[in-house]
Amino acid sequence: MAEIIDGKTLARHLDAQTANDVRQMMGGHGIRPGLAVVLVGHDPASEVYVARKVQACERVGIDSFEHRLPADTSQEALLTLITRLNIDPTIHGILVQVPLPAHIDAGVVLGAIDPSKDVDGFHPVNVGRLSTGAGGLVPCTPLGVMKLLDTVYQDLTGLNVVVIGKSNIVGKPIAMLLLEREATVTVTHIETRGLPDIARQADVIIAAAGSPRLVRGFWVKEGATVIDVGITRVPNEHGKDRLVGDVAFDEIAHARAATPVPGGVGPMTIACLLANTVLAAQRAIGGA
Ligand code: GUN
Repeated sequence: MAEIIDGKTLARHLDAQTANDVRQMMGGHGIRPGLAVVLVGHDPASEVYVARKVQACERVGIDSFEHRLPADTSQEALLTLITRLNIDPTIHGILVQVPLPAHIDAGVVLGAIDPSKDVDGFHPVNVGRLSTGAGGLVPCTPLGVMKLLDTVYQDLTGLNVVVIGKSNIVGKPIAMLLLEREATVTVTHIETRGLPDIARQADVIIAAAGSPRLVRGFWVKEGATVIDVGITRVPNEHGKDRLVGDVAFDEIAHARAATPVPGGVGPMTIACLLANTVLAAQRAIGGA
């Protein structure tokens, strides 16, 4: 059987470390890290994510400031809010939940966030820093994936890693982080030809396509590690949603290690958001 990489437990450990960092900041500087969470409209999945992020802040002692705006909020009004948050010294992290309503240009809005408060790592300055290895704020899901991989491998040097999916939030930043660690990275996407054969060459597969059970057992080399970033909500027979990953988990007993869905990458994303918020606060007071 493949080792199951327990993201829930690792996230709890990271949260304990973050809570400790918060206590130290409070003790040393009397400063509590603050995160502003901005949600425009009523996308049901976004509502759930935002509620979870706010709850998670409470668990580790970060102050959270929720800004829920109506779906018809103008881009100008949203930019005014961001300008206010940028200059507010009690706010160390700003997160604007995406997707935004269609009349708002997400690129403009995310680009208006002060890069030093951009705890999602979506600002072009942080994207640039990531691609040059310059130590900006790193997107939370890719950061979580790296921490999960670090539980399996001491060193990623020379490993063949196949990333499935080229999104700005997951696929591309993961590729950059892996390159920094000297892995050999192949980024694939929906137009890639012969994906099963490419995947079969991999020591590590990172599945981030958002396509349920895309990665079948025969795509996975004996002894490979499989990280499943895909989360698709599928209604079950009781009318409730079930989370389904990108990997046919029941077919990969021959893998070395794999993340489950749920309980793998998901919990790490929020834990990394909290860690990024504390890092931004530490940098703001000159402590990191
Ligand atoms: N929507 C889906 N994932 C994310 C995320 O990591 N951050 C933000 N801001 N919005 C998202």
